[in-house]
Amino acid sequence: MRRKGFWYVPGRLYDLAFAGISKGLRRRVAAAVEREWLYPWLDVCCGTGSQLRGHVPASREAGRVPDLVVCGLDKSAGLVRYAAARAPGLPFVCGDAGRLPFKDGAFRAVSVSFGLHDKSPDLRRAMMAEARRVLAPGGRFIAVDFENPWSFKSKVGALAVRAVERLAGGEHYRNGRDFLKRGGLRAFLRESGFVETARHDIEISSISIVVASPR
Ligand SMILES: C[S@@+](CC[C@H](N)C(=O)[O-])C[C@H]1O[C@@H](n2cnc3c(N)ncnc32)[C@H](O)[C@@H]1O
Repeated sequence: MRRKGFWYVPGRLYDLAFAGISKGLRRRVAAAVEREWLYPWLDVCCGTGSQLRGHVPASREAGRVPDLVVCGLDKSAGLVRYAAARAPGLPFVCGDAGRLPFKDGAFRAVSVSFGLHDKSPDLRRAMMAEARRVLAPGGRFIAVDFENPWSFKSKVGALAVRAVERLAGGEHYRNGRDFLKRGGLRAFLRESGFVETARHDIEISSISIVVASPR
């Protein structure tokens, strides 16, 4: 029997629109976690759960996996139910990224994909404070989000991104413009007191994947 939420329409539509084009991003984020064996891993603002869906750590069989391997968190109850229905066995929690329901130092990786630019400056600040709090010593923050364009190709990509963001409209769009005005992901992480340890820039869409440590 299908679990409740499996056919949740906003979840289905989001995946239909973005699952294909974000496959490469998801793979890179998962590889960053696997490379340094950063489990347990919390994906904040997980949306449809597509980042964690199907994620089985490569050396699970080797018995190196803690009880709680991965966890997704989102504020939308509908998306959380959908994410859980699409990935039976993986934990998804309904909660606020600005007030995480986890103990200090509970995770070795915290990721946020496309979940910073759309938030208000106050919520962004609270999210980073919470990410810092739940990261264990030596843990990493992994962010995927928009940068200001740095080349002709990325300028074209940024225009396409802006058109999609306009569709999201309202506060989401205004917050996104504010995020770029303040310098995009690079400046945001620096101002939040995180130091980059690895970065992959995607020129065609003016998006970056950054691994960072709390200072
Ligand atoms: C643009 S979507 C990104 C979803 C997903 N990370 C991805 O890469 O496709 C932003 C997500 O943030 C969630 N969200 C908004 N405010 C939140 C909050 N205060 N706490 C947790 N999640 C929140 C929304 O429900 C939405 O799923």
